[in-house]
Amino acid sequence: MIIGFCFIIVFAVLINKVSLQLTVEVTVEGFIGGSVLLPCSSTQHDLKLQDTDVFWRNKDKENICDLIKGTESLESQDPRYKNRVQTFPDEYKRGNFSIKLSDLTHADAGEFNCFITPSDEQETVQLIIKSGPTPPPPPTESTDQENHGPETQILDWWKILLICVFTLLPVFGLSYFIFQQRKRTQAPI
Ligand SMILES: *[C@@H]1O[C@H](CO)[C@@H](O)[C@H](O)[C@H]1NC(C)=O
Repeated sequence: MIIGFCFIIVFAVLINKVSLQLTVEVTVEGFIGGSVLLPCSSTQHDLKLQDTDVFWRNKDKENICDLIKGTESLESQDPRYKNRVQTFPDEYKRGNFSIKLSDLTHADAGEFNCFITPSDEQETVQLIIKSGPTPPPPPTESTDQENHGPETQILDWWKILLICVFTLLPVFGLSYFIFQQRKRTQAPI
C-alpha cells in the first residue's frame, strides 16, 4: 500500500510538471536602452515552414512582427517597433520563432504574445524593464524552470500536499473498512 501511495505521488508530481510545460509563460528582464530576446518556440516536430505563420503581438494587440510562411513581414508593423525587431530566420526551421527587441523603454514592460498557426500554439512572455545606472549585459533568456519564484514553489508544494491528503483519505478509509470487516468475520470464532 505504501508503494502504491508513492506511485500516486510520483504520478501527481509528473502531471504537475507536464501542466507547467503546457502553459508556456516566460518572464524576461531587460534594461532601458538595451535589448532582450523574446522567446517563442513551437513544440511541433514535423513543422512545415511553408504552412506556418507566427504573429507577435504586444498587450494592446499591436503588431510587432509577423513571420509569414518563414518570411518576415513588416507591412502592418506598428510604427513603435520600427527598426527595433530582429528576427532569426535560420532558427525558424527548428521551430524557434524568438525575436529580439532593442532600444527598450519603460513603455515596453508587460506582456507579449506569440501565436503560431496552424498548430494554434500560444506563448506569453512577460517583459520586466529595469533601469540601472550601469546596465549589465541583460539576461537574454530565462527558461520557465529557472523563473519559478518562491511563490510558485510554495504553490507547487500546496498542490502536492492537497493531492497527498486526497489520496490518503480513501486509502485510510478503505483500510479501516477492511479492518472492520475482518473483525466482524473473526468475531464468532
Ligand atoms: C532561438 O534563437 C535565438 C537566436 O539565435 C537563440 O538565442 C535562442 O537560444 C534560440 N532558442 C532556442 C530554444 O533554441
